[in-house]
Amino acid sequence: MAKRTAGDTDLTRVDVGDKDTYPVYIGTGSLNRLTDLLPGVGRQALVVTDRHVARRYLPRVSGALRDADLQVKSLVLPPGERTKSIRFLQRVLAKMVRSGMTRGSVVVALGGGVVGDLAGFAASVYMRGCPLVQIPTTLLAQVDSSVGGKTGINLKQGKNLAGSFYNPGLVLVDLQTLDTLPAREFNAGFAELLKYGLIFNEPLYRELESVLNRYPRGLKEALLADPGLLSRAVTRAVKIKAEIVTADMRENDLRMILNFGHTFGHAAEQLTRYRRFLHGEAVVLGMEMAVRLSALSGRLDREAAGQVVASLGRFPMPRVGGLRPRPMYRQMRRDKKMRDGRLTFILLDEVGTAVTETGVSRKQVLQSIRETLDNRAAIRRGRRG
Ligand code: NAD
Ligand code: GLY
Repeated sequence: MAKRTAGDTDLTRVDVGDKDTYPVYIGTGSLNRLTDLLPGVGRQALVVTDRHVARRYLPRVSGALRDADLQVKSLVLPPGERTKSIRFLQRVLAKMVRSGMTRGSVVVALGGGVVGDLAGFAASVYMRGCPLVQIPTTLLAQVDSSVGGKTGINLKQGKNLAGSFYNPGLVLVDLQTLDTLPAREFNAGFAELLKYGLIFNEPLYRELESVLNRYPRGLKEALLADPGLLSRAVTRAVKIKAEIVTADMRENDLRMILNFGHTFGHAAEQLTRYRRFLHGEAVVLGMEMAVRLSALSGRLDREAAGQVVASLGRFPMPRVGGLRPRPMYRQMRRDKKMRDGRLTFILLDEVGTAVTETGVSRKQVLQSIRETLDNRAAIRRGRRG
């Protein structure tokens, strides 16, 4: 990782991949550097974004692309998870055809993980693949979805069921864009930061845990008030993700640890039809289940697990009413991470060290779900009472 000064904006560069390496630039105000950092591409660009993001950042991004002598078109989509669908994939591809884009034209994904996954998938299949630039504007997208090359859409039958591994040529993270991000969305990204700490880097987890314990209702304010901490945490997370996906882009082994909490979380999202939980919220719920399961299966020390559960319990969470252990378990068994009829779980041996495990019993899984749902319901009653 090299630190470089570009004009008046300090950027940190993290390289991802061993061949076809691409850079992730992280900085405050880094959108100002887009024109210079753009990799060599053809003459046209399509910026794919959503309504919320377009209002704030589309003119600047389009202007920077024009300054790089590109002909710029844009497509503004409705915000939300339901946009990550076949219907909107068709819209993006149709717009590319109508705009006369060629295999050298660049797709610029400007927005959160929804736009990044959808536009990335479109770039990967349009004329068998055209250049892609990711400009993530949510904390979740900055530390997770824009890095590592996973793109895709949801099908009626399940989340992320169609997709591809397709690397961008550039990821540009501007921490300033987080100023306008709603606090709840910020929290969802904070959840992914916690995940990196729990699975890979205990010091990162401890730093974030202390913020969570002190400011559970003001995570965004706390991090924006401490730009050093925000930038350090994002950079560490991107470095961790870069290290993992460089070693195992196609998720044969190591990358699976990034799914910590996700198998449980996806089931919760799906059973509530993507309407109740943000992805990061569902991941926190899932991480609590995974931590409990780690202790129940004898891997993680019970006291350590109890501390993590107590901290995660402070994370603001929608109600869990209506979720039940058995339907969640059934839903989890449809997960694409099933191998030979067995579910793969990511568990903790200790805080900062994750392992994959296929040998846990159904009874332990159901118990970890039940305990988490009961705990969440009790926390909610406590807040009301
Ligand atoms: P999102 O893309 O839906 O964005 C959240 C909301 O924030 C939207 O309403 C958006 O319009 C708004 N927004 C975005 N940036 C903003 C800004 N700077 N200011 C104001 N509003 C802004 O959600 P997300 O949490 O970024 O992404 C979730 C998606 O990412 C899920 O579909 C998930 O499956 C996917 N994901 C993919 C990967 C991967 O590796 N590809 C990893 C994690 C998550
Ligand atoms: N967010 C999980 C992964 O990128 O593999």
